[in-house]
Amino acid sequence: MKLLEGKSALVVGIANERSYAWHIAKSLLDHGCSLAFTHLPGDKNLHRTKRSVEALGVANPWLQPLDAGKDEEIQHVADAYAASFGKMDVLVHSIAFADREWLAAGKFTDTPRAAFATALDISAYTLIGLTRACRGLLGKSGSASVMAMSYYGGEKVVPGYNVMGVAKAALESTARYLAWELGPEKIRVNVISGGYLRTLASSAVGGTDEISKVVEEKAPLRRNVEGGDVGKTAVYLASDLSSGVTGETIYVDCGINILGA
Ligand SMILES: NC(=O)c1ccc[n+]([C@@H]2O[C@H](COP(=O)([O-])OP(=O)(O)OC[C@H]3O[C@@H](n4cnc5c(N)ncnc54)[C@H](O)[C@@H]3O)[C@@H](O)[C@H]2O)c1
Repeated sequence: MKLLEGKSALVVGIANERSYAWHIAKSLLDHGCSLAFTHLPGDKNLHRTKRSVEALGVANPWLQPLDAGKDEEIQHVADAYAASFGKMDVLVHSIAFADREWLAAGKFTDTPRAAFATALDISAYTLIGLTRACRGLLGKSGSASVMAMSYYGGEKVVPGYNVMGVAKAALESTARYLAWELGPEKIRVNVISGGYLRTLASSAVGGTDEISKVVEEKAPLRRNVEGGDVGKTAVYLASDLSSGVTGETIYVDCGINILGA
């Protein structure tokens, strides 16, 4: 019996085969989970996400458009999912957005109000919006797991990460408050703090090549993280193996966060 047999998940955040969400989906599938997916609206995004999902071996994937900045689209996805699956065991939130103009060392003080609001909205508030819309479905699971992706720049200064760091701090705190409120409904909420991985989103942040080099030299495991490392932790969080774990931020970063210098 596979670890996630009989469970179903909504995976939000696959842009392409490099996305953290793609690696998470691959690991969930390997362990027997049924998956539903969203893509950013627009034909180009639809085709890119569909191609990536099909590369996972999922023929005729359940795929809905979603701009998570819009409550009505979040609700539409939750309703459509309910019609197809009836319950939700796992919700994967793997999305973030900030205007790349403000993601460079020396630019944080100049962050405009609107850019700050958008980064916090898409990268943190959407965890509340999605979880709320799916609350009834998650409650029907009896042992549901919500997970979101963060980065160490939400805790310590990583020059260039800037407003995204503030958004990740908000995301991690949001997960803890959700965990407290939803625990009685047997819904766990956790965050994976992943190491640097080259993706569309991370390419918007200045100075990432340097980060990659430092991690390879200094991290306890002397290598950068791979998508599959995060995927395996996602399986742990989705499964009963983590039945007593909620409100946590789990580092999957080859250990770089433990260093003081
Ligand atoms: N790549 C890294 O180094 C790294 C490290 C730690 C954490 N993370 C986090 O992992 C998550 C996934 O990012 P990724 O690196 O896989 O990049 P990615 O570009 O592959 O994924 C980001 C996703 O966010 C989605 N998105 C953006 N705005 C959206 C909106 N309004 N509505 C719905 N979806 C929207 C994009 O469509 C895309 O699928 C993000 O939260 C990111 O901050 C990434």
